[in-house]
Amino acid sequence: MNTVMRLGYLGFEVSDVDAWEAFGVDLVGWQGERQTPSLLTARTDTQARRLFFHQGSRDDLIFAGWEVADEAVLRDIGRQLTEAGFAVTEGSLAEVQERGVEALVRFTDRAGNPLELFCAPMIASAPCSTPLQSQGFVAGSKGLGHYVAGHPDLAAARALYCDILGMRISDYILIPTPDGGSVRAMFLHCNTRHHSVALVDASLPHKIDHFCLQMQAFQDLGLAHDRFVASRYAIRNSLGQHPNDLGVSFYAATPSRISVEISWSDFELEEAGWTTRTFDRTSLWGHHPPAK
Ligand SMILES: [Fe+2]
Repeated sequence: MNTVMRLGYLGFEVSDVDAWEAFGVDLVGWQGERQTPSLLTARTDTQARRLFFHQGSRDDLIFAGWEVADEAVLRDIGRQLTEAGFAVTEGSLAEVQERGVEALVRFTDRAGNPLELFCAPMIASAPCSTPLQSQGFVAGSKGLGHYVAGHPDLAAARALYCDILGMRISDYILIPTPDGGSVRAMFLHCNTRHHSVALVDASLPHKIDHFCLQMQAFQDLGLAHDRFVASRYAIRNSLGQHPNDLGVSFYAATPSRISVEISWSDFELEEAGWTTRTFDRTSLWGHHPPAK
């Protein structure tokens, strides 16, 4: 079965590109590259473009790019999407050049989440510059990281993300709500990263709740935490540990309304024998909101 292999890139429309440039380079520690006054791109590994920040008013995700093996796979999955009733659009030459890929197609899932499939991303010859970190980000074959989006109908989400795109369910987490109920988050993987996307069966105020970048060294998570504590960007959830991938992370504000999660985990998902479970809490410890 043809499948997506990894989360390749994320694109945002942001009202303050300058703020994102300083935020990424001086706080998170990625390599920023200003392509034009209205476009910032960023690297977290050898791939030339992992993050895109377009000047605009939405302050939200505008595309999530999923990598496939080659153009034949791209066309095959595109055909399956069309047969399933998704409106698939060929990426323009300008979009292909901007993303730094050979080809791409665009579509949205049933909840309106903007997705792209692409192949053959540009690899930079120069090493990725992450001077704030001892070891850099976990990316490469595991992809950029993960994000959390809303999708009120998880059965419909499974029909797309699993049956067509070929992802597998890692597990579920029941997230308590203030009214005593809960929402269900479905965690999906397409490589040894525990999850590359999680979908919550609720309508979120933005296209994503947060995106996550993973540090290779635990020390670099702590150093990033120190930088955020000293910055003007609020820690939205303190250091804590998730029960499914046992990752340690914190969540912080960004120049837009979405949050960023900075994490560390040595979890390697093994497909053979994997069983899906449901967890009754989001955190084993920590991840507390700020004290009032
Ligand atoms: Fe996360």
